[in-house]
Amino acid sequence: MKTELIKIDFAKPLSGQLSLPAKILAEGGLVAFPTETVYGLGGNALDASAAGKIYAAKGRPSDNPLIVHIARPGDAEKYADTNPLYEALAKAFMPGPLTVVLPKKEIIPFSVTGGLQTVGIRCPGDPVARELIRLAGVPVAAPSANVSGRPSPTAASHVADDLNGRIDCIIDGGEAEVGLESTIVKIDGDRLILLRPGAITPEMLRTVCENVVLDNGILGKLPEGVSPQAPGMKYRHYAPRAKVYLVRAENEEQADRKAIAFFRARLAENPQVGILCYDEHLPFLSGENVYSYGKKEDDLAHSHLLFDCLRRFDETEAPAIYAVIGKTEGIGLALYNRMLKASAYTVIYI
Ligand code: TXA
Ligand code: MG
Repeated sequence: MKTELIKIDFAKPLSGQLSLPAKILAEGGLVAFPTETVYGLGGNALDASAAGKIYAAKGRPSDNPLIVHIARPGDAEKYADTNPLYEALAKAFMPGPLTVVLPKKEIIPFSVTGGLQTVGIRCPGDPVARELIRLAGVPVAAPSANVSGRPSPTAASHVADDLNGRIDCIIDGGEAEVGLESTIVKIDGDRLILLRPGAITPEMLRTVCENVVLDNGILGKLPEGVSPQAPGMKYRHYAPRAKVYLVRAENEEQADRKAIAFFRARLAENPQVGILCYDEHLPFLSGENVYSYGKKEDDLAHSHLLFDCLRRFDETEAPAIYAVIGKTEGIGLALYNRMLKASAYTVIYI
C-alpha cells in the first residue's frame, strides 16, 4: 500500500489540506494524524471493519479498546451516556488531553471497545485533529500510531518509521506538544478513577471532582492474575529494545552529584551504555549514547522529549539504558508511570 504524506502548511486554511484524509476516513481507510498528546492512527469509529484494520496495522491485541475522538465535547452524547460530571470535566478540560470513560451507546461497535460496555471519549486540543474529525463527519477511533510495543509517536517521522506502507495516509502537523498520551478517567458515581495519568493532573481533576482515586496499576505492578481497568495498561508498553533502569535519588540532597557519579561509573564500565539525564549533567558525561531530556526543573520538556529519546536509543547499540527520574507530582506522575513501564518497574535508588 502506498502511504500518502500530507505536510500541513499552517499559513494556509486547514480544510483544503484535510479534505483528502477526511474522505479516506469516511470511506473506511486509516489516517495517522497529529494530536497535542501523541500521533493517533484513526479510523471510522462507527465501522467495525475500520477497527479491524487498525488492530492489524499496529499488530495490537483486539481486546485492547480504542479511544473515540470527537470534534466537539457536546458530540459525546451521540456515542455515550453522558452525565453532569462529564459536562463539568468537558467544560474545564476539553478540548484537551483528557479521555473520559462512559457507558457506550449501541452505535459504537464492540470491536472498537474491545468487547467492553464502556467507551473512552476524547476531544483533542490540536486544531488539525478537530478539523479532520469535523470534515470526516464521523467519530474517529484512534490508538497511538505506533507498532504495538514501540514508544508512542510524537512526530510524523516516528509514525512513518513504524507504519509506512501499512496505512493510507499520514498527516504531518509538527511535533506533539505534550508528548505523553492523554489522562484517562472513568466516571464511577460521584468519583473519578484515574486509569492513566497525563497532562491533566490529579490536582487539576480535583478542582472539578473532590474524589479522585488512582488505579493500582499506575505506580505499582499489578499482582499476577489481576487486570488493570484500562486493558491497555497490562501490556509491556513504551519499551525500547535495550533494558531500561530508572535512576532515582533517595533524597534531593546531592541528587545531581550522585546521579553524575552513578552515570560516570556505568560509562566507565561500557562507553556504549545509554544515559538519559538532565542538561545540568551533560558537561560531566561523555559517551556515544548520552542524551538529555531537558533542564532538571522542566518537567514539560521531559514529557515532550521522553518518547523521542527512547526511540533514539533504539537506533543505537546501547546494551542498557539508565534514565534519571525526578519529582513525581503534576505531570511528573505521568512521566514516572510511562518510565516504570518502559523499565518493567526496575528502579535503582542512589
Ligand atoms: O492521547 C491519547 O489518548 C492518544 C491519542 C492518539 O489520542 N491515544 C492513545 O490510545 O493513547 P491508545 O490506544 O494507545 O491507548 C488507549 C488506552 C488503552 O490503555 C486502553 O486500554 C484504554 O485507553 N481504554 C480505551 N477505552 C477504554 C475503556 N472503555 N475502558 C478502559 N480503558 C479504556
Ligand atoms: Mg498506545
